[in-house]
Amino acid sequence: MRMIDIIEHKRDKGVLTKEEIDFFIKGYVNKEIPDYQVSSLLMAIYLNGFNIDETINLTFSMLNSGDVVDLKDVKGIKADKHSTGGVGDKTTLVLAPILAALNVKLAKMSGRGLGHTGGTLDKLESIPGFNIYLNSEEFIKQVNEINLAVVGQTSNLVPADKLLYALRDVTGTVSSIPLIASSIMSKKLASGADIICLDVKVGSGAFMKNIDDAKVLAKTMVKIGNMLGRKTIAVLTNMDEPLGLAVGNNLEVIEAINTLNGNGPKDLLDLCIEISSLILEQAQNINYDEAKAMVLEVIDNKKALNKLVDMVRYQGGDTSYILDTNKFDKAKHVISIKANKKGYISEITAIKIGVASMLVGAGRSKKEDSINPNVGIVLNKKVGDYVTNDEILAYLYTDELNDEALKMASEAFVIGDNKKESKLILDVIKGE
Ligand code: URA
Repeated sequence: MRMIDIIEHKRDKGVLTKEEIDFFIKGYVNKEIPDYQVSSLLMAIYLNGFNIDETINLTFSMLNSGDVVDLKDVKGIKADKHSTGGVGDKTTLVLAPILAALNVKLAKMSGRGLGHTGGTLDKLESIPGFNIYLNSEEFIKQVNEINLAVVGQTSNLVPADKLLYALRDVTGTVSSIPLIASSIMSKKLASGADIICLDVKVGSGAFMKNIDDAKVLAKTMVKIGNMLGRKTIAVLTNMDEPLGLAVGNNLEVIEAINTLNGNGPKDLLDLCIEISSLILEQAQNINYDEAKAMVLEVIDNKKALNKLVDMVRYQGGDTSYILDTNKFDKAKHVISIKANKKGYISEITAIKIGVASMLVGAGRSKKEDSINPNVGIVLNKKVGDYVTNDEILAYLYTDELNDEALKMASEAFVIGDNKKESKLILDVIKGE
């Protein structure tokens, strides 16, 4: 078999066989096929698509390119959730303790932030002492004892995705439904959970700009998960604005703690309740309303908050910060961003808020960059709010004055004459 024939096959709109897909994934991971040929094939896939069988075959080839996490020693039902990439998305920090308090296990591998999106690991590391590097015995033991652990991905989990994603990033081939579906599902399947909930973001700040594409992506991923015997569900959620109010590492941890204390922003709380209830419904074979009542109860009686405290203690973090969020360090300056006209906010362009926050040091533009845990943006208004001229829209938390970040954050707010109703949860896709 030759790579050039596979490229030409897809260029001419053919359907790739399982053998052809295996050949290119193995060859690329083993460094036998060069970047330029894989780039060319990726563009052919981007333009001519993959049918569901090709997408499933690609997912399995990628899954088999490295280690698969074995969670057989974790007793009970294991769940995982994944977001296709949001700004201000701290749902893991809220829903993982909720589910752990309800006896669903979360042996979760998370990532770091890159570009305008944040990463759960960076957020957790803003808690002094928190250790994301557990070996597999410590990881399994902790999940068996407290139902919950969040760690970094092992370096050999789906190596094919690491290589392909880096190449897609620089060849204009990221936003392809089959490539996104196989990238996400290979990692989720390799992480070993029984129940997978996918949060597919829709809107200007997301890979999927419209609901129709998002549905195709969600259905593809649900089908792949179900085929491998995992209960897989997807929620389609609006990304016309960041989730919650806080964007930036310790700012988001504080917001997650407030949410577990019953004082979080409504959109964040609603999404965490929805995803937790859907997962619990699957985990315990109960109906959605029963599941939701149980979720609300563990928020109300602080059992969920106590699970977060347990996890921080087990992973070496200072739990006093969870109990008193005033202890977190603060940025040197808090600068108000004000409206330059009156009207209703119709969009808060998430990508601009994410980039502005990155520019003041909350995120990385390159993998090697270090981050500042104390900086970022806290919104003071959300989509649908009315503002008068000069009213405060958001606060920029920064250690150094940065005009570019300030300009970018203020341009994120789109103000118009009409009130826009913003719906957070657009659809839920369950397997047949
Ligand atoms: N997230 C992923 O993990 N992969 C993609 O391709 C897109 C979003």
